[in-house]
Amino acid sequence: MEMEKNMANGTPAGMNVVVSRVNRSARCRCCLWMVALWCAATVIFMLAGYDSVVHSVAVNQMVLRQGGQKYESWVDTPVPVYYKVYVFNLTNPKQFMEGARPRVQERGPYVYLMKETKEEIEFHSNGSVTYRTKPLYFFQPEMSNGAEEDILVTVNIPFVNAADAVKDQGFFRMVIQMAKKIHGFETVRTLTVGELLWGHKSRVMEWARQLQELPYPHQLFGLLVGFNDSIQEPYTMHTGKGDAAKMNQILSWNGRQRLDFWSGDKCNEIRGTDANGFAPGVTKEDRLYIFNGQLCRAIPLVFNDTVMQSGIAAYRFVPPDDVFAYGTNFPENACYCSGSGCPPSGILDMKPCYWGASVGFSFPHFYKGDPKLRHMVLGLK
Ligand SMILES: *[C@@H]1O[C@H](CO)[C@@H](O)[C@H](O)[C@H]1NC(C)=O
Ligand SMILES: *[C@@H]1O[C@H](CO)[C@@H](O)[C@H](O)[C@H]1NC(C)=O
Ligand SMILES: *[C@@H]1O[C@H](CO)[C@@H](O)[C@H](O)[C@H]1NC(C)=O
Ligand SMILES: *[C@@H]1O[C@H](CO)[C@@H](O)[C@H](O)[C@H]1NC(C)=O
Repeated sequence: MEMEKNMANGTPAGMNVVVSRVNRSARCRCCLWMVALWCAATVIFMLAGYDSVVHSVAVNQMVLRQGGQKYESWVDTPVPVYYKVYVFNLTNPKQFMEGARPRVQERGPYVYLMKETKEEIEFHSNGSVTYRTKPLYFFQPEMSNGAEEDILVTVNIPFVNAADAVKDQGFFRMVIQMAKKIHGFETVRTLTVGELLWGHKSRVMEWARQLQELPYPHQLFGLLVGFNDSIQEPYTMHTGKGDAAKMNQILSWNGRQRLDFWSGDKCNEIRGTDANGFAPGVTKEDRLYIFNGQLCRAIPLVFNDTVMQSGIAAYRFVPPDDVFAYGTNFPENACYCSGSGCPPSGILDMKPCYWGASVGFSFPHFYKGDPKLRHMVLGLK
């Protein structure tokens, strides 16, 4: 839409060029074929010139500036964004506790409408802008398969984390085993979907807090705690002013131009855009990057297909199959491994950026991951 509107605006300027050239060539009376040749040359030049005029007008309109065409929809996205959550219900808790492989059943989607606004917006004279996002999530019962009150049997994440953190330290392991007996901590527990996502009281965390200060910054424990109605870390982004090729590039996050989670410079690079836009002129050969603080890294995207979107041909970009692959064939991912080695292919170990918690990131059902992962859990496909 924006593109079309810009092109219409560009037309009058292009037409003026045509008219003045034709008038001048009409004054040439030497011989007809020279006029014809001159006109043909003019037309070719004009077409080329016209195209680049339209292009530069359009690109200029796409630069983000206060009060500009793009600004309102950038601050408060008018397009509804739906956030779909699927969860796994552990269906054999008793056997699992006795050493059997976990068997899970996928439930959902639990659908949320996400409305994100941008706040604390500050434009800098060098063509960048700093902002913070504030997302709001609203449950959509009619789009969901289930309710936030649905009961789930799931792993007690804080307890498993605590146990995992001390598994090689005999003394602390004993302390946790004793606390488990005294306080009745459980490895598997029952929670509602809402509690799992948006927070619940964790007795394990409360107990641990009495002993030491925890790096976990929230009182309640939940997978999405701290994301609803709360302002996120600041991003600084290039607006495209002065250099359209840099449009939407994230320059820094949370005041840092580099990350320090990973073991190599390449992995610690903040590169790419926030995924809401890319510099004009994307080609099928491009390797695009998106950066998101929640993922703690930049994710590459490669061309997958040409698709029709509301009658407009569009390129679909997807993460490459090997985005979470390790081993000698994927040396560029080695810096996502830690001193204790690489996780199985298909998993990004989030421990370095999730307060030391045993949390991993993967495609759903370990898609494209090491087949042994799928065999460790029954019920995946
Ligand atoms: C522009 O200035 C801002 C604020 O001083 C700074 O954070 C940002 O890194 C600068 N960007 C570039 C590309 O130098
Ligand atoms: C998110 O916060 C808003 C505003 O405080 C609230 O209305 C909404 O119910 C919250 N969403 C969830 C999923 O808790
Ligand atoms: C999860 O499993 C428990 C126990 O089998 C069951 O009561 C509960 O309804 C299941 N939850 C969902 C969302 O299917
Ligand atoms: C696009 O993705 C589909 C589904 O994963 C895959 O089968 C296909 O090979 C991909 N095409 C290209 C050109 O990468």
